[in-house]
Amino acid sequence: MELLEIRGVSKRFGGLAAVDSVDMYVSRGEIVGLIGPNGAGKTTLFNCVAGHCGITGGEIYFDGRRIDGMSPNEICAMKLARTFQIVKSITRMTVLENIMVGAFMVSKRIPLAREWAREVMDFCGLSPLADAKAGSLTIGDKKRLEVARALATEPELLLLDEVMAGLTGKESRDAVELIYKIRNWGVTVLMVEHIMEIIMPISDRIVVLDSGTKIAEDTPEKIARDKKVIDAYLGSAA
Ligand SMILES: Nc1ncnc2c1ncn2[C@@H]1O[C@H](COP(=O)(O)OP(=O)(O)OP(=O)(O)O)[C@@H](O)[C@H]1O
Ligand SMILES: [Mg+2]
Repeated sequence: MELLEIRGVSKRFGGLAAVDSVDMYVSRGEIVGLIGPNGAGKTTLFNCVAGHCGITGGEIYFDGRRIDGMSPNEICAMKLARTFQIVKSITRMTVLENIMVGAFMVSKRIPLAREWAREVMDFCGLSPLADAKAGSLTIGDKKRLEVARALATEPELLLLDEVMAGLTGKESRDAVELIYKIRNWGVTVLMVEHIMEIIMPISDRIVVLDSGTKIAEDTPEKIARDKKVIDAYLGSAA
């Protein structure tokens, strides 16, 4: 069985099928890109997988266990973590304290959680900002902190929702480097990103959503030449 299996998953909001019978999977060790136009259902699908919203159809399996119906905490404890498109850091807490929030999933003992948080902070290149208040960070560092907090829960699968949106060129190159490091650390990655120059080269495989349905799934090379994807999303930029 794959690390993540999404089988015929739907999520309706009243009359709107935000996610409509989507089948997809993520294998251990992969970086999978999830793309599609605004409102395609990418964040909603993440919410369904991470337990932040109930699904209205289908089944979700993680590491061989059915997880739809579980709470976000139960799912996180199974080692599936996600970042939020709208950054959720606690602005009045420091960078280290924010990462400790994630680290408490690994140990409830403060010294151990702090030690692990420091390790993750260092891994993410945030050590120079350890004592800075999260609210004072640049958008690039806020996004990096969001990744660090999720990583501190020690996930097997990390869902990244637009962690590169709004970054400068240098910041996004650093972010790409961090994602490769995370994968090489043994973490599987499913990421949503609109920036094609980033998502295409970094992904082993791409899944495309449009109006809640999966319209394509293939290697980045084939996705870039897929007529359905070009018409729905990529346009002439492809
Ligand atoms: N809580 C909600 N209640 C009602 N409708 C919602 C809710 N959350 C999302 N939607 C709708 O579901 C659809 C999918 O939204 P979603 O945020 O998943 O898209 P997305 O692919 O992440 O878009 P973007 O690229 O802009 O982040 C949209 O039409 C959105 O308005
Ligand atoms: Mg979104």
